Amino acid sequence: MSEMVLIDKVIPRTDVVKRTARIGAEIKNIELSSDLPDHTIGAINTLLLEHKVIFFRDQGHLDDVEQERFALRFGKLAPNPTFGATKGTMSIIDIDSARPPFRTDLWHMDWSCLDAYPKISVLRAVVIPPVGGDTVWSNTATAYLDLPPPLRRLADDLWAVHSFPVVARPTEADMNPYDQALTRAWFETEHPVVRVHPETGERTLVLGSYVERFVDVSKYDGQRLFDLFESHITAPENTVRWNWRQGDVAIWDNRATMHYAAKDYGDQPRVVRRAMIEGEVPVSVDGRCSVARVKFIKQPPANVG
Ligand SMILES: [Fe+2]
Repeated sequence: MSEMVLIDKVIPRTDVVKRTARIGAEIKNIELSSDLPDHTIGAINTLLLEHKVIFFRDQGHLDDVEQERFALRFGKLAPNPTFGATKGTMSIIDIDSARPPFRTDLWHMDWSCLDAYPKISVLRAVVIPPVGGDTVWSNTATAYLDLPPPLRRLADDLWAVHSFPVVARPTEADMNPYDQALTRAWFETEHPVVRVHPETGERTLVLGSYVERFVDVSKYDGQRLFDLFESHITAPENTVRWNWRQGDVAIWDNRATMHYAAKDYGDQPRVVRRAMIEGEVPVSVDGRCSVARVKFIKQPPANVG
């Protein structure tokens, strides 16, 4: 029996509404919960691999604990490396515009400064501003295919250093408590610019805001290469934009997408909560694995939730 037929038996095709030709689909008529049968979780995972990011409206019944229990059905939880979890959870982090734990208005993959960075993120909308606050995702597999063959070959050969924090750090006395939390960690990993997706076999671009430099490339040339590849990743034809409502859930494949949260809602509150699932160490097209160069946490993270 084909995978397509299997999905159709669990989630009717009419309940899968594509948002663009290349990326993003809304899945209707599912109430997300940790008690969903294995075949439904399997169908959701298959739809995730196909569409890269999937959206579910009207999931207001979820709280932090149930969101985490649902996320756990897709693998091992990946606690945030620098921030504590919200009350009663192992891993849920609170992303609150009133006290942002980090910048989200940059194109990035979650925690790509780690070697085995998360494979899946599950984000739930708790408070959504009346206007603005959309998130945009891009498909890094089709971005790779958009490159002309000589640039694909160049990307296949390149490696980049992803680090956190990326920028020069001020002294602790200059910082607020959230910035201070960032200084507790220092991560640096060399990733191939192109990785082979462990489940689909697709080649995807591994770049984004954690990139500090390319290996064996000068800063000047590296910046131009970065801009060139990023322009393919963020081309509008390669993206989907989601206009959040309270209670929405988005799940994305962090190995095949990048995302950007638009900061266009003034001083209105916006609160979203995220769970992440442990990923695999990326493998390059010639079979080499990413290498963590530095991994350092000064002290255990404080609870912020
Ligand atoms: Fe993110």
